[in-house]
Amino acid sequence: MDYGAVLGKERLTGDDRRLLLRAKDPGAVEDIRRFAQDLRLRQCGPYVYLRGLVEFSNICSNDCLYCGIRRSNKNVKRYELNVDRIVECSQWCASMGYGSVVLQSGERRDERFVDLVADAVGAIKQRTRSAALPGGLGITLCVGEQTPETYRRFFEAGAHRYLLRIETSNPVLFGKIHPPDQTLSSRIECLKVLREVGFQVGTGVMIGIPGQTTDDLADDIEFFVRHDIDMIGMGPFIPHDQTPLWSSACPDEAERLRTSLLMIAVTRCSLPDINIAATTALQTLDEVGREKGLLFGANVIMPLLTPVDVRSDYLLYPGKPFFDETASQCMQRLESRITGAGLKIGYDQWGDSIHARKRQGTL
Ligand code: 5AD
Repeated sequence: MDYGAVLGKERLTGDDRRLLLRAKDPGAVEDIRRFAQDLRLRQCGPYVYLRGLVEFSNICSNDCLYCGIRRSNKNVKRYELNVDRIVECSQWCASMGYGSVVLQSGERRDERFVDLVADAVGAIKQRTRSAALPGGLGITLCVGEQTPETYRRFFEAGAHRYLLRIETSNPVLFGKIHPPDQTLSSRIECLKVLREVGFQVGTGVMIGIPGQTTDDLADDIEFFVRHDIDMIGMGPFIPHDQTPLWSSACPDEAERLRTSLLMIAVTRCSLPDINIAATTALQTLDEVGREKGLLFGANVIMPLLTPVDVRSDYLLYPGKPFFDETASQCMQRLESRITGAGLKIGYDQWGDSIHARKRQGTL
């Protein structure tokens, strides 16, 4: 199979993406990886941007059939960090030179929650300004579907990037992994509102969901292109034994890992100048899964900064690595793997995607 001819095309078609995503032979996978990585280096440069991830609450009003912190899971000890603790984590993030923080939590729309997020964003902005970071930490929010007013409030408080995964672009498959009150169309509407409000917009999918086909995954990438997405976070589906999807058949781990890495590479080939994260779920399937993600074209890593005392309560999926990335030894290891791969860490920078900066006219 001549992957070179396909990869060299100006624009990939749906058939091209399907073909690339089906690659199994190690030589072919390596060809695709190398092409994606060259493209990433040419379009985005060698930098890897770090976003400290603070999982500030696992209280959730949604009931996604795959997620360990779903409302119906009564085995979860629920927690919520207050503004002071969120700021403390963020100050630590800034002092490490990470440049950006991601605030993630279960989804809620009550007033108290919205106040907490807006207050935390405002406080982080105020209290992380320094000579190295005159605008304070870059803030990405990942707190689900909200009203346009709430999105506006978060933006005005100082957050400038928002991640809202669609999980899959196939509405039928979406319906199989969510309760009827959650819909793909409402997620898509939120993505549009987020863009109108002024956010740089990120989305993503899970790879290897029971019933998902390669055609679905190729369509997911098509969705990212059509919606002019700035950032992608995606990773393998990992069954959780306290959720309804636990016993449904899905591809084996090796296949989920390979397909996830190919999804990163083919997304890079389709949207060369966006930010793509090498996610923690990759690490769950392979000890150096995130580093592999970087070699397949990802350019963002999210070190986990959630306080150690609540970390084990934020289990969206089992086997989440528990290494303590607040430990400098651990970060030194990550850094040496990154630099060993010929890449560099973009310290003290927000690291907005080139794609967003071009659109916003700030490049
Ligand atoms: N396996 C993999 N990813 C999961 N997520 C939630 N549950 C799982 C799981 N079992 C992902 C979803 C969600 C993000 C916060 O975590 O994609 O959007």
